[in-house]
Amino acid sequence: MSNQVGNSLYAIPADTPEKERLGKQYAYKRTLFGWNSPMPPSLDVSGLTDILDVGAGTCVWTFDFANMPQVKPRPALPEKTQPKETLLVRLYACDIDTVFFPDRALLDEFGVFQQDVTKPFAPELRWKFDLVHSFTPASSPSRLRTHPGMIYTPSSDLITLGRSLTYRLPHMLRAAWLKVKESRRIPCLIGKLAADRLELALFAEFSMENFVFVFRHLAKGLLAKGKLRMPDGIVVAAEEQAESMLKEVEEGARRNGVVMLGGVFVAVKEST
Ligand SMILES: C[S@@+](CC[C@H](N)C(=O)[O-])C[C@H]1O[C@@H](n2cnc3c(N)ncnc32)[C@H](O)[C@@H]1O
Repeated sequence: MSNQVGNSLYAIPADTPEKERLGKQYAYKRTLFGWNSPMPPSLDVSGLTDILDVGAGTCVWTFDFANMPQVKPRPALPEKTQPKETLLVRLYACDIDTVFFPDRALLDEFGVFQQDVTKPFAPELRWKFDLVHSFTPASSPSRLRTHPGMIYTPSSDLITLGRSLTYRLPHMLRAAWLKVKESRRIPCLIGKLAADRLELALFAEFSMENFVFVFRHLAKGLLAKGKLRMPDGIVVAAEEQAESMLKEVEEGARRNGVVMLGGVFVAVKEST
């Protein structure tokens, strides 16, 4: 497995705190979506064999899937010794950047590979996967059109930098010959707004720190590219100007809480 530490494409340093942040973010996301498993309730897992996590990062979803009580990753015990309801699956995880992949020892049962999801997959991977999960801003359904079942959970509209992926995805999925089975926009309640909700109260502090942290990193990246803009469209060019804008956003966020728009999309092959 190649590892690009040093020239990682990922904007945030891929160290332990970032791995922990991604783990907490996943737990928060699952709670927001109301899932009590790594799968949306609208997807039936029986009959699935080859599962791919795209933009897998630390493989948090892949591990969560592997730990479902009815799932047994291959290689596993000989089939005849498995209880009837056991699902034997082959799990794969890919990412444009391998910096977050866990140690090889932990990945024994997974196939991991480097892949930019906006580029075509290798021919041998066409029609291979029964289910594709993606929690990344870079999902490109047209590149994945060869896969029969998919779950997309775009991180948020903020992270897609205003391109409103949650609004465009259903159309993109249909254009890739997929039937949209579930299309749900989810208000991601952050900070004070999460504190007011029983199921999210546990994440009130994390969600705010996560928002501020991601927002700062995105703003820094945009500033470097000359693409950071005020809400009225004026480009922010100087660092001090960016800092005062960030401070204002941060103070407002902490005072009032934040709502970001997320989404879950489940799409399946047209014939199913
Ligand atoms: C917000 S992290 C989410 C990681 C993981 N899915 C999770 O739930 O914790 C987004 C991931 O998408 C990956 N990514 C970004 N652009 C990508 C691309 N074009 N192709 C594949 N992966 C990409 C990043 O390297 C990163 O690991």
